[in-house]
Amino acid sequence: MLRITVLVSGGGTNLQAIIDAMAAGNIHNARIVRVISNNPGAYALTRAENAGIEGICVSPRSFSDRDAFHKALLNAIDEVDTDLVVLAGCMVVLPPELISSYRGRIINIHPALIPSFCGKGFYGLHVHEAVLSRGVKVTGATVHFVDEGTDTGPIILQKAVDVRDDDTPETLQRRVMEEAEWQIMPRAIDLIAQGKVTIKDGRTQIEE
Ligand code: GRF
Repeated sequence: MLRITVLVSGGGTNLQAIIDAMAAGNIHNARIVRVISNNPGAYALTRAENAGIEGICVSPRSFSDRDAFHKALLNAIDEVDTDLVVLAGCMVVLPPELISSYRGRIINIHPALIPSFCGKGFYGLHVHEAVLSRGVKVTGATVHFVDEGTDTGPIILQKAVDVRDDDTPETLQRRVMEEAEWQIMPRAIDLIAQGKVTIKDGRTQIEE
């Protein structure tokens, strides 16, 4: 049984998609053991509570310095015997010691087709604003492993979404979530839980 800790900061719709996929039997051999938010007001914590999952807040504001916050975050992940860390709208820049301790065991969802519209500054609505201003016809979402860079780790799954002429950043964000993020994140977790994802030379191999 793959033990998952989900890191969130906001609304938690990706967390909800994972919870729903587990309830529907679409994710095998995995369960969420803890949800951690850096933001005490995150609605994601309510979603965890409603699903009977432990949700805790580890806020940088509760600690005297960044180092103490980082240690508390790592400890909160370690103490529940986490096998996989899932970043689902997590706005915290992960400490290097967390990335090295969980190498190949942290995944993130990015709301664009990496390597387009990713890297520093490309988060939230900024991604969709940049997509519209460049005028690309296709965007999408990417689930990838996390390494020390920003959106640079091995890609697990991607799904394309058409851009429409009348899209606003908000309508595009919503459609990318519905048509791509909420589908590929649960699917990637299921593949990992079934041992079907391996990393070789910075690329993943998926056994379908
Ligand atoms: C999503 O767009 C995700 O791609 C990005 O942050 C957003 C999180 O939304 N990393 P939610 O909290 O899952 O609703």
